[in-house]
Amino acid sequence: MARTKREARSAVVLGGTGFLGRRIVRHLLECGFKVRSGSRHPERAHSIFGEAAVEAVRADVTDELSLNAALARCANVVNAVSLYVEHGELTFDAIHVRAAARVARVARDVGISQLVHISGIGSDPLSNSDYISARGRGENAVREAFPGVTIIRPAVMVGPDDAFLTTVARLARLSPVYPLFGSGKTRLQPVHVEDVAEAVARVLDRRDSAPCYELGGPRVYLYRELVKTIARQSSAHTLPVPMPFVVWSVMARLAEQMPSVPLTRNQVELMRHDNVAAADFPGFEQLGIEPAAVEDVVQKLRDRETER
Ligand SMILES: NC(=O)c1ccc[n+]([C@@H]2O[C@H](COP(=O)([O-])OP(=O)(O)OC[C@H]3O[C@@H](n4cnc5c(N)ncnc54)[C@H](OP(=O)(O)O)[C@@H]3O)[C@@H](O)[C@H]2O)c1
Repeated sequence: MARTKREARSAVVLGGTGFLGRRIVRHLLECGFKVRSGSRHPERAHSIFGEAAVEAVRADVTDELSLNAALARCANVVNAVSLYVEHGELTFDAIHVRAAARVARVARDVGISQLVHISGIGSDPLSNSDYISARGRGENAVREAFPGVTIIRPAVMVGPDDAFLTTVARLARLSPVYPLFGSGKTRLQPVHVEDVAEAVARVLDRRDSAPCYELGGPRVYLYRELVKTIARQSSAHTLPVPMPFVVWSVMARLAEQMPSVPLTRNQVELMRHDNVAAADFPGFEQLGIEPAAVEDVVQKLRDRETER
């Protein structure tokens, strides 16, 4: 495969228009990188990045030719592609294992210097959950194809337009009772999406990164405590009540048939497991980042709402 001259401070962010990817693009620009965003719908980039100097290209991680073109002349690659619901050929295995490995292999073959692969806390090849197992097998496949890869495992990420905090705040304001996943005892360590994006930018900036970082926010909450905290801060009066996981799974199966997919089975499955950064992995501290508290993120979201 052709090895061409690559500009050291250049990066392509696959999934660069996504919730995390668009922030990675912005943080890399702030760090002085020349940035390309790769996704299947590059036309969305204009409304996201406005006049910022981002090159938007069509790239599909299931298609090797488009990957080769997307990686042209770049020295660094970030894979921030997601798949939360399986559709036809787009399975967890296809995206999180085979496509992740394809990105790593193409990156190696064309001579990319640094690859950052976004995974998630709790990824485990031996898990019974198809999603969690695919994330774990994907990490292994990526390491095999590109041994110098840096894997970033974020906890559940929060910020404007997220799938977690915004949903909790909205439902808490709408309903006098708040149905919890199970008894609400799952331990969570939500992290601000901007902090994760900054971590990725620093990994590419420093070039001496660890093989894997686990990134969680400054505090670990029981899920039910977190709901109460978000509700209180959103001036919502709601009573959290336990609801069995089996009921959630049935509801998620139905929700996955809806066009907007408000809930997925893998979200339910993920809520069965604690999602907390392991003490023996490097994290924000090693990257010199002090992560924001969830309370501050909620406050910022409220301020934005009142400004509108
Ligand atoms: N959100 C969280 O709380 C969270 C927590 C832990 C880990 N993560 C991980 O963080 C990563 C990013 O997640 P996210 O929530 O930011 O995802 P997202 O908002 O759904 O964005 C996904 C991005 O990937 C692109 N994409 C999807 N399929 C593609 C394909 N086949 N080829 C190329 N691009 C494709 C999408 O654009 P197009 O549709 O236009 O292609 C979009 O830009 C994922 O690995 C996710 O598992 C997320």
